[in-house]
Amino acid sequence: MAMSGEIELGVIGGSGLYALPGLANVSRQAVATPWGEPSGEVVLGDFAGKRVAFLARHGEHHSVPPHRVNYRANLWALHQLGVRAVVGVNAVGGIRADLGPRTLVVPDQLIDYTHGRATSYCDAEGAEVRHIDFSEPYTQALRERLLAAARVAGLAIVDGGCYGATQGPRLETRAEIARLRRDGCDLVGMTGMPEAALARELDLAYACLALVANFAAGCGDDAVISIEEIFAHLAAATAQVPVVLDAMLRA
Ligand code: HPA
Repeated sequence: MAMSGEIELGVIGGSGLYALPGLANVSRQAVATPWGEPSGEVVLGDFAGKRVAFLARHGEHHSVPPHRVNYRANLWALHQLGVRAVVGVNAVGGIRADLGPRTLVVPDQLIDYTHGRATSYCDAEGAEVRHIDFSEPYTQALRERLLAAARVAGLAIVDGGCYGATQGPRLETRAEIARLRRDGCDLVGMTGMPEAALARELDLAYACLALVANFAAGCGDDAVISIEEIFAHLAAATAQVPVVLDAMLRA
């Protein structure tokens, strides 16, 4: 069934998710923004009976590292196409003992350890300065839709957790992760910020679907982290993303 009209959801795919399986009748849209080039074309299509816009955060061939993603252009492009709610899918390392590889988590807090990224749209000469409330960095209603959808689909999912956003692209040292743990972080990833804050600046509903790919440095039994294992776990966790989104959009 071909559909057009309002876009129900924007999905930003992270590492391992470069296209949305099940997206049908696709068209591709290159969107120019005042903030430069998005990571790639936005892929518009029908998914679970709704219009969905998909964007690969790192580009479709994973050519854009976390610290070089043009987060402003990505969200601007989705907003410009009429998207009003975005799910960001992010690969993460688990810090908390119960957040092992392949766990799905919908975090409710974050701490930003990134640096040197363009973090705001309040950046143009003479532009209005907006101080957004960011006490709750994610949109609760969208979080709840994700959580409910996973349960309907029969998938285990963890409600809440603090996402520590690091600079990447390297993984962290054990000492860095120990610090994040002391700070209260449950998860660590490289792309959660400034995406969440920029979404808020654009008044987009935004939630993170975090996929645990590995135990963060010093948190698992292994002395070092195997990148091959990360991608194997990530592939398994990523396969659940369309299942959750399908249940969410059909609810
Ligand atoms: N650290 C930061 N980002 C990540 C990790 C990690 O251990 N695993 C997947 N993304």
